[in-house]
Amino acid sequence: MNTENFLNKFYEKFGNRNDKPVLFFAPGRVNLIGEHTDYNGGYVFPCALNYGTYLLIRKIKNNVLRFSTLNFNADEETEISGLFVNTGKKWINYPLGVINEFIKKGVQITGLELMFYGDVPNGAGLSSSASIEMVTAVAVNDIFRSGLDMLELVKMSQRAENEFVGMNCGIMDQFASGFGKKDHAIFLNCDTLFYENVPVFLHGYSLIITNTNKRRGLTDSKYNERRAECEQAVELLQAYKPVKNLGEITAGEIPLLDKYIDDPVIRKRAKHVISENSRVVEAVAVLKENNISRFGELMNMSHDSLKDDYEVTGTELDTLVYEGRKLPGVIGTRMTGAGFGGCTVSIVKDSDSARFMTGLSAAYQKKTGIVPDFYQPEIANGAGKL
Ligand code: GLA
Repeated sequence: MNTENFLNKFYEKFGNRNDKPVLFFAPGRVNLIGEHTDYNGGYVFPCALNYGTYLLIRKIKNNVLRFSTLNFNADEETEISGLFVNTGKKWINYPLGVINEFIKKGVQITGLELMFYGDVPNGAGLSSSASIEMVTAVAVNDIFRSGLDMLELVKMSQRAENEFVGMNCGIMDQFASGFGKKDHAIFLNCDTLFYENVPVFLHGYSLIITNTNKRRGLTDSKYNERRAECEQAVELLQAYKPVKNLGEITAGEIPLLDKYIDDPVIRKRAKHVISENSRVVEAVAVLKENNISRFGELMNMSHDSLKDDYEVTGTELDTLVYEGRKLPGVIGTRMTGAGFGGCTVSIVKDSDSARFMTGLSAAYQKKTGIVPDFYQPEIANGAGKL
């Protein structure tokens, strides 16, 4: 992002070059392993990306919020008078939901001009929404001097998405966007919120993200359905022991699921979550030992489990993954994020990465008729002022 250009766009839109806005950034994320575990009190291992959402923000005298974005033509203006309500299917629900959280905390919100620019692809499972929420949260916190800490901002952003936008996500995306650290992934226990930054130096290998470019369809409803299935599993497991979430069950206990869960679908869902959790723990341990090949195997196992037991992949993601695995230099490849579409993340040998992208692009187009996009991301720091 060229800051000079961005500033010029801001002045063209809102005028008054003598009063400079402040620039903030919040990253999107890619999850390396630990999928659909966050809302089960389990482990995740995401990292923040150098792609995300930028925000220029300035206080004004009028009692209005003026929103603009460089991503599409959809300026909005809304008066400030108490709590906001959801505006229907509009992009400003993300920042408005966050601003609402500040109002609920008693922060006196006054007039603002806000201009957003995102370079993380929309709806691709790389947390464009969380990055809009988090950039709003850090900016509002800063310019109104609210003094809230990062964890609070993360929770407020998650609440905005759950309660205002109406997507019942876990805490992973907002947490990764807030707590990201350059060249590190975040080993997060989503139950206790204890976390550890683990260095990701792949020595001759790199992360490659591939976008299915499949239009998102039923993701939200399927996502909520999976959450409900996990809750059902927890309820059934009460006959075994008093657990509050699936994160409390260990891989060694998986054989017991047969005894307590009759419904084969619910049993599969629970099996994915429990096995995925233990894969995260092992993945972090092997990464610390530089055992990248085992890390890749665990990524592959994660995808297979998301396909067979959790059933959140679909033709496009599976094509990328199984065609990708046939190519030289691919250590591991899996879907990342909620699934059903969105992206895969792969670890590929640097000397094979160009061949990987051309080979996979051809194979994917042949099978699906869609052209995929590739990103070679850097692992970046979390949200803040630039
Ligand atoms: C989405 C949600 C996250 C998490 C993932 C699946 O990205 O926003 O909270 O549940 O799906 O791991």
